[in-house]
Amino acid sequence: MRQFDFRSDTVTRPSDAMREAMAKAVVGDDVYHEDPTVNQLEEMTAKLLGKEAALFVTSGTMGNLVAVLAQCQRGDEAIMGTQGHTFLHEAGGVSVLGGVSMFTVPNEPNGTIKLENLKAAVRNHFDVHEPISKLVILENTQNFCGGTVLSQDYVAQVADFCKAHGLALHIDGARLFNAAVALDLPVAEMVKHADSVTFCLSKGLGAPVGSMLAGSKELIHKARRLRKILGGGMRQAGILAAAGIYALEHNVERLRVDHVRAKQLADGLAEIEGVSLTRGTPHTNLIFCALDENVEIDTQSFIEKLAERGILIMDVAPREFRLVTHLDISDEGVEECIKAFKEVLA
Ligand SMILES: Cc1ncc(COP(=O)(O)O)c(C=O)c1O
Repeated sequence: MRQFDFRSDTVTRPSDAMREAMAKAVVGDDVYHEDPTVNQLEEMTAKLLGKEAALFVTSGTMGNLVAVLAQCQRGDEAIMGTQGHTFLHEAGGVSVLGGVSMFTVPNEPNGTIKLENLKAAVRNHFDVHEPISKLVILENTQNFCGGTVLSQDYVAQVADFCKAHGLALHIDGARLFNAAVALDLPVAEMVKHADSVTFCLSKGLGAPVGSMLAGSKELIHKARRLRKILGGGMRQAGILAAAGIYALEHNVERLRVDHVRAKQLADGLAEIEGVSLTRGTPHTNLIFCALDENVEIDTQSFIEKLAERGILIMDVAPREFRLVTHLDISDEGVEECIKAFKEVLA
């Protein structure tokens, strides 16, 4: 039976062409800065994002952690959304390892954080009782708000706000290229106001491992040391970087196809009695949907019955699920998924 894995865009497996690029990669010791392929990926990323420098890191989680630690000291505070990945799903790393507290403010359904809420979160630096506000984190696309795309206007307003309050701005762009194709904008334009930016190579772009962090030379210099402290200094990492280069050269434009399939899938699911789309999806490649209260099946059984039909999905709340389109989801996958939903709910 064919299986279609909609749980995440992290599940993609490298294509034959990507594996070939990996096999042929020229490598060296990247901790000594001597891996030509890693160096090439970092230079390529810096140019693509319009930043001075970039760093290859093991994961989006490490990229965000290193970005926060490079810009905050122990006792500082980072302001972020309640639906933000750094707050929800990075095991509290910035606090656990960096002594940085997290001030969370609500995300609006469109993924933004209201400026008035950001303003209310800024601490009084002169009061010894309070931590010191240092950084704001935005997420683009915003995963748990439904893969929403932040507008350029909004990011510019937050950047102005940060400047006015002496705060740095970090963009968690795990799916930055999904946002870029949705807005039809160059990524450099989208992140021009950010002090640091991360994006993942191992999500919709289809590489097996790795994320990139970009920013000023000074920031990346600090980040390189922090990466080493965290045990993320990899040696002949060019084999992985080659997959990243291949992904950036071949898999960006095709993200549009994932967005079209997400729309087709969402339309198909929305027509099924007992299923409702949630979080206003799809905005990009993420679909959230829920089973109506009167549907007599529990969350786990529903997931299992779909799995029996070769469709893997993930629950995000009781009776609510996330489905993600990506490189390994074809038109057939979309059709099979709609068919399986219909059969299970019949
Ligand atoms: C918005 C966002 N940021 C960061 C990450 C972390 O990426 P990784 O799984 O590579 O650590 C994810 C992963 O799903 C994500 O969705």
